Amino acid sequence: MGEIKIGRMLLSAMCVVACASAATALRVGAGIADVTGPPAEVAFMGYANFEQVGHGVHLRQFSRAFVFEDEGSGQRVVFVSVDAAMMGNGVRKEVLKRLQKRYGSVYTEQNVILSGTHTHSTPGGFLMDFLFDLPILGFVKETYAAYIIGIYKSIVMAHSKLAPARVEYGEIEIVDANINRSPTSYLRNPPEERAKYKYDTDKTLAQLRFLSPSNSIIGVINWYAVHPTSMNNTNKLISSDNVGYAAVLMEKELNGNNTQPGKGNIVCAFASTNLGDVSPNTRGPRCEYSRAVCDQESLLCKGKNERCFASGPGRDMFDSTRMIATKLFEGAMKVLEQPGEDVTSGPVGMVHQFVEMPKQEAYVFDPLTDTFNTSAKVHGCLPAMGYSFAAGTTDGPGLFDFRQGTVSGNPLWNAVRDFLAEPTPEDVECQAPKPILLATGRMKFPYEWQPRVVSCSVARVGGALLAAVPGEFTTMSGRRMRRLLASTASTAGATHVILAGLSNVYSDYIATYQEYQAQRYEAASTIFGPHTLEIYLNKYKELTEALLNGTPVEPGPSPPDFSDQLITLVPPVLWDAAPWGHEFGDCLRQPRSRYSWGDTVTATFVSGHPRNSIRHGRTYMTVEKLVSEQDDAWTVVATDADWDTKYIWKRNSKILGTSEAEVEWEIPEGTPPGTYRLHHYGNYKYILGGIYPYHGFSDSFEVT
Ligand SMILES: *[C@@H]1O[C@H](CO)[C@@H](O)[C@H](O)[C@H]1NC(C)=O
Ligand SMILES: *[C@@H]1O[C@H](CO)[C@@H](O)[C@H](O)[C@H]1NC(C)=O
Ligand SMILES: *[C@@H]1O[C@H](CO)[C@@H](O)[C@H](O)[C@H]1NC(C)=O
Repeated sequence: MGEIKIGRMLLSAMCVVACASAATALRVGAGIADVTGPPAEVAFMGYANFEQVGHGVHLRQFSRAFVFEDEGSGQRVVFVSVDAAMMGNGVRKEVLKRLQKRYGSVYTEQNVILSGTHTHSTPGGFLMDFLFDLPILGFVKETYAAYIIGIYKSIVMAHSKLAPARVEYGEIEIVDANINRSPTSYLRNPPEERAKYKYDTDKTLAQLRFLSPSNSIIGVINWYAVHPTSMNNTNKLISSDNVGYAAVLMEKELNGNNTQPGKGNIVCAFASTNLGDVSPNTRGPRCEYSRAVCDQESLLCKGKNERCFASGPGRDMFDSTRMIATKLFEGAMKVLEQPGEDVTSGPVGMVHQFVEMPKQEAYVFDPLTDTFNTSAKVHGCLPAMGYSFAAGTTDGPGLFDFRQGTVSGNPLWNAVRDFLAEPTPEDVECQAPKPILLATGRMKFPYEWQPRVVSCSVARVGGALLAAVPGEFTTMSGRRMRRLLASTASTAGATHVILAGLSNVYSDYIATYQEYQAQRYEAASTIFGPHTLEIYLNKYKELTEALLNGTPVEPGPSPPDFSDQLITLVPPVLWDAAPWGHEFGDCLRQPRSRYSWGDTVTATFVSGHPRNSIRHGRTYMTVEKLVSEQDDAWTVVATDADWDTKYIWKRNSKILGTSEAEVEWEIPEGTPPGTYRLHHYGNYKYILGGIYPYHGFSDSFEVT
């Protein structure tokens, strides 16, 4: 009896310690805000195709923020996943400036990670490095402002919702949602190393979920390695692509099916990780016309000017986006429904350092023993891009296709091409075997072309370690990093290592030393030379040890600020006008009177320029259902952020300032029968100045 009593007392004493720490030690808050960029006349970032200029919205862009606080130490970490191609230091600096104005020194460069999902269908022009803004025709202040304000708002919301929470880890294998787009490069890695893995891409979706003391869900972050390039480079509607739609689906499921995208309390992110060589186009590369499987190595097809690109699994890019998103969403829901591993215990903290890559020295890494050879030293190079970079990938062929002269149609390119710098013999030797196409590290006109200083950080939330990296790690690069950090951190109780891709600064790709020798696209875009990955492995091990031991690290050199030198050729909106006899918001082409499930309803309205107001947190259109004829009361069933709707803007005459908005709704299965209408919202710029809102309805129609 006595023994049992002691046992019981011991048990309850243990629970007092464990339960108390679980109940009070960690606080988590999640927030979401609209970050949609200017939806017209701004080129998309990702495919570097300056003809891919947006003219509407399919899915809105959101910023999803998670704030973690260790109540004991007061330490905080912020992780934000943004529906954007990547993040840049300028955006982070401005977000921090606004946070500091509001909260003092709570949020700094030392504890905030901004990670881009890497969607290729969102407006660019927000980075301060010239190469990345070149295809966009320069810097675009509207994109920059949209991202800064939205990210800031999402963090403010997460901050205000901080509450006691637990963290659970879970994972699942999703085998049919990605393929390797450079499989021959992957094969360059040592066979003994490859033998540790079943696939040539990572198939594991890793999930951290945050639960209140009463087990209700606060938020979920999922990491799955895949390029958000289901929407290809012919798409001109803003889209958060496969991962963005997966997030919308999961939020809808958890917040209730009537919640509009971006408006729910529970926030679910699908964030980027080691997606460098990973494509969602699971049917693989085929020739454009003959549909023959094309040569992986050369990407060439038999026909003259016949391109080789990958697609699938759907019948078109929308269908493919929906299918990949659904696989990710369903996988993540399965993990959520399974019991997870509680990883709450352990501190919250982060170390951050700016690192000047060309100046770094590192030890050679042995991928068979996962150790460094301390008698073999290597170093970084000035940034440079190799020739294969110009050929593009099977996800987006012909990037910067210099040979076919597509870049020469770009007025910004014409203005700068005579200022290109020659690589020096040291550059050539340092980057070998990469044949240098652009010695970006030596190009100073009009300002820095690619970063030399990158942002490196390692964060810890209980038993999870987050390595936030400034670029796109390939599959094997990511695996090496995770193996190394897992062995460094496991004794300290941080057992799950997650790579957070495209964080804070964008420095292109990171291929392994062996992949670098093959010089395919990812290797040609590994800008700091053959030992780029080894430098990161040395650095992240050092940072992880500092984090675990609580030793401070040097802040490193701040990246240069070019904000007063930026060039833009994107013209401002001049004015808007309605055609003779019409007002803004007039419906020019009405829908039919009757539709059924699966039909697409279309209406066209007299429109202003969408760049007059991005309508953050609002919408350019709604689908409305009549709920009471007597009171003329309508309820919103969809906005421009929903999958089933499209908002397409068309300029009719630049001189007259006339334009049209086409609003579409594909009626989903299960839509209740009734009376519906389409509603368009916009803002016009008056010729004598001032911006004014307008709106207009279509005639009503029946869904039967
Ligand atoms: C939303 O709809 C789906 C399928 O129609 C259903 O399985 C799910 O339970 C619904 N979710 C909520 C919160 O109502
Ligand atoms: C993009 O997808 C569309 C189908 O949605 C297809 O017709 C087109 O050929 C694709 N183009 C490229 C370059 O992938
Ligand atoms: C370490 O590097 C040195 C110098 O390159 C080399 O001679 C030695 O064989 C390497 N050691 C191992 C264990 O690979």
